[in-house]
Amino acid sequence: MHEDKLKRLYHMKKSAEEGGGQEKVEAQHSKGKLTARERIALLLDEGTFLELDKYVVHRSDDPATKKYYGDGVITGFGEVNGRQVFIYVYDFTVLGGSLGEMAGKKISKLMDHAMKSGAPLIGIIDSGGARIQEGVMSLDGYGDIFFRNTMASGVIPQITASIGPCAGGAVYSPAMTDFVIMVENIGQMFVTGPEVVKEVLSQEVSFEELGGARTHATKSGVAHFVAKNEYECMDKIKKILSYIPQNNSEPAPVIETTDEPNRIDSNLLNILPENPYEQYDIKQVIGSIVDNGDFFEIHELFAENIVVGFARLNGRSVGIIANQPMYLAGALDINSSNKAARFIRFCDAYNIPLVTLVDTPGYLPGADQEHNGIIRHGSKLLFAYCEATVPKITCIIGKAYGGAYIAMGSKNLRADINFAWPTAEIAVLGPEAAITIIHRRDLKQSADAASVKKKLARDFREKFANPYIAAEKGIIDMVIDPMETRPMIIAALNALTTKREPRPSKKHGNINL
Ligand code: HXC
Repeated sequence: MHEDKLKRLYHMKKSAEEGGGQEKVEAQHSKGKLTARERIALLLDEGTFLELDKYVVHRSDDPATKKYYGDGVITGFGEVNGRQVFIYVYDFTVLGGSLGEMAGKKISKLMDHAMKSGAPLIGIIDSGGARIQEGVMSLDGYGDIFFRNTMASGVIPQITASIGPCAGGAVYSPAMTDFVIMVENIGQMFVTGPEVVKEVLSQEVSFEELGGARTHATKSGVAHFVAKNEYECMDKIKKILSYIPQNNSEPAPVIETTDEPNRIDSNLLNILPENPYEQYDIKQVIGSIVDNGDFFEIHELFAENIVVGFARLNGRSVGIIANQPMYLAGALDINSSNKAARFIRFCDAYNIPLVTLVDTPGYLPGADQEHNGIIRHGSKLLFAYCEATVPKITCIIGKAYGGAYIAMGSKNLRADINFAWPTAEIAVLGPEAAITIIHRRDLKQSADAASVKKKLARDFREKFANPYIAAEKGIIDMVIDPMETRPMIIAALNALTTKREPRPSKKHGNINL
């Protein structure tokens, strides 16, 4: 081959790999951030990355906008622990990772590849949003990405990491993906930045407060995970992938477990306090049931009154949903309903069975919840359970009152197997609330209302707040010894491996968003 031709290629390759140049790379490092290429090297198995569109440049007619090979986003495919993935990584050193027409086309092309191959899509965002100089063509680029995010939803898993600013259009695409990880003190997501907020609303707010990792992990729920640094972020991506399938028609990976499926655990007898009003940590229960106590929690800092996450039972991935009595006594509220409903829909889309552990006193009452739409949001949980056709196992371990009893994977919502511990209390209301209503007159007339109330509550609990009335009616399939929870759930899951549950054909349901 003519030497000059090869020289040209290598010159272009070098130039593309330099991104925005030495100075910008140093600026990136000085902010404690890795470059786009360093990020790819950190995530993918060595030597597996195949880059696409390395020599694409912008075609804006603005003479002041310098052309860089790659146009501010690196796209390609590679492997993560031997699993094929498609990846795009914004390069902040090139025009602030802003997205113009050609960068948009690169990402869209990659998404099309991921869809055709049926492999997960990973996006790493570090971007100033729509490239201002390219005007409507930047918006055009985002629009195409949003469309593809939607088409891919429920077909291939989509994971996004925010490792830098994600401004304007750069936030909506992540929000449409399945999991968002933000790196602490580096990742920031906002539709409009602090300067605009100050200008328009005269409010002073810092970048971190407005859209930092903690804000989105605790308040908005946009971030499913917070990572301490970029290394931990990549580990989280790898861990998510380990529980989920390549696409919606493949099974999730099964790993050989060292944990005996028939293992019983007497500790389960001691976790629930005798007094049903005392707190305990539901994660202790989860830990004792799942393989090797390994529970990968999602949305750990958001709506802590419900716990969701992945675990394995006899080597198979399951999605766990459990009320957390440590927060709001495990009551369901707006955020917890949203959090659990979204997780259930993910698991259902990707054939991951659902295991629900119930201990909840009901939906949270109050004007704040009502005015903010507990009816609208709370019913999403019902909708999500009803829609889900994956195997669904529910175990009521404590309180299961009223609407929350129904919502937390009851038989009516088509759970397949419903277990209960002897400690389960299934009723329309908790004993105290129930007797205040049905014995209002007696209590009013009594000289010693407090002790009468206590006795009535005890009688009520004895009579109604137990699992046996439901078991008599077949609404609970089996009341089990808590020690045997793990073998019982595994046996049920084994029996349901080949479950099929056809549903009426429709364009799509209309979940009450
Ligand atoms: C073009 C941009 C850019 C943008 C940053 N740059 N954002 N260029 N379009 N949107 C350029 C800067 O001019 C600068 O170029 C380089 O990237 C680095 O930016 P700095 O500001 O120096 O970096 P930093 O101080 O770290 O601040 C990063 C930032 C800030 C917070 C992202 O740049 C910023 O606020 N950018 C604008 C964010 C924004 O409002 N985007 C548009 C949103 S509207 P030089 O050459 O000096 O190095 C939108 C609409 C889509 O996205 C809606 C779809 C639904």
